[in-house]
Amino acid sequence: GFPEYVKIVEVGPRDGLQNEKVIVPTDIKIEFINQLSKTGLSVIEVTSFVSSKWVPQMADHTEVMKGIYQYPGVRYPVLTPNLQGFHNAIAAGATEVSVFGAASESFSKKNINCSIEESMERFEAVVKSARHINVPVRGYVSCALGCPYEGHIAPEKVAKVSKQLYSMGCYEISLGDTIGVGTPGSMKRMLESVMKEIPLSALAVHCHDTYGQALANILTALQMGINIVDSAVSGLGGCPYAKGASGNVATEDLIYMLNGLGLNTGVNLYKVMEAGNFICRAINKTTNSKVAQASFSV
Ligand code: HMG
Ligand code: MG
Repeated sequence: GFPEYVKIVEVGPRDGLQNEKVIVPTDIKIEFINQLSKTGLSVIEVTSFVSSKWVPQMADHTEVMKGIYQYPGVRYPVLTPNLQGFHNAIAAGATEVSVFGAASESFSKKNINCSIEESMERFEAVVKSARHINVPVRGYVSCALGCPYEGHIAPEKVAKVSKQLYSMGCYEISLGDTIGVGTPGSMKRMLESVMKEIPLSALAVHCHDTYGQALANILTALQMGINIVDSAVSGLGGCPYAKGASGNVATEDLIYMLNGLGLNTGVNLYKVMEAGNFICRAINKTTNSKVAQASFSV
């Protein structure tokens, strides 16, 4: 059955912006995050401490991290692919980080320039250092429902990588449909496999909406008892190392569906739409959120 409360992890400032070609001014990013902080969201992914040669849009990670107002009760995780990123993140004031692996060998090479096995060693080092200073680490598994280079990914592969991340100390595992090719059918099969290894309460889903399946896939995950969902305001997003991948599920559309199901999120839909409106104007894009489109057109 459905969970009563659903935790939304807002990834707009990171996943949403990382793929934008035009560099978004740092003060716009900071204002965007500060607006999101006032919506009731409890987790906002802020930026990535990755190489600026690989992802130029995230080059201002330190300034963004230092510039935002950290509201009480809101957590502000950042992506850290290795120890270098971890140390930079902590120096900038981060108190929670995420490592990001993949269930596909080819994607791991393209995205973080190492094999899955090498990535696990790097993540283990991050988790160890984080533990010393009580910093929680989240673990992502990309290509959970398909890979841009390898196509189909066996659910067992996803379960294996998820288990490795959970065993090394990641408190939460976010299962990424990086290129949005999943369906409720493949989502169900993948989750059945992962749920054999990891407690339900530690699982999140992270759905890109490339094929228009994201809300259906999320509903499937909710029906299976998952109560943590990643989304991005206005449906922004995409991964620079996954060609053709489009935006994340829109936070507005997710909240609308959850409200309709009577599931509590603690997030104010109207305020989220305002933050979405702000960022879309700033980057000169029209929103991908159907709910925002419908609401602003009346
Ligand atoms: P590399 O080139 O293999 O790293 O990159 P290296 O250790 O060989 O070092 C080479 C250079 O990079 C050195 O600088 C290092 O200092 C520097 P140089 O001496 O040449 O001047 N370097 C760094 N600089 C800043 N921050 C760091 C860092 N590490 C090394 N942390 C690396 C390896 C992982 C850094 C690179 O591949 C990278 O930055 N990748 C980023 C990939 C990325 O951000 N992808 C998007 C996020 S993942 C995603 O979107 C999926 C997700 O949303 C879930 C889903 O949808 O499935 C999470
Ligand atoms: Mg993503």
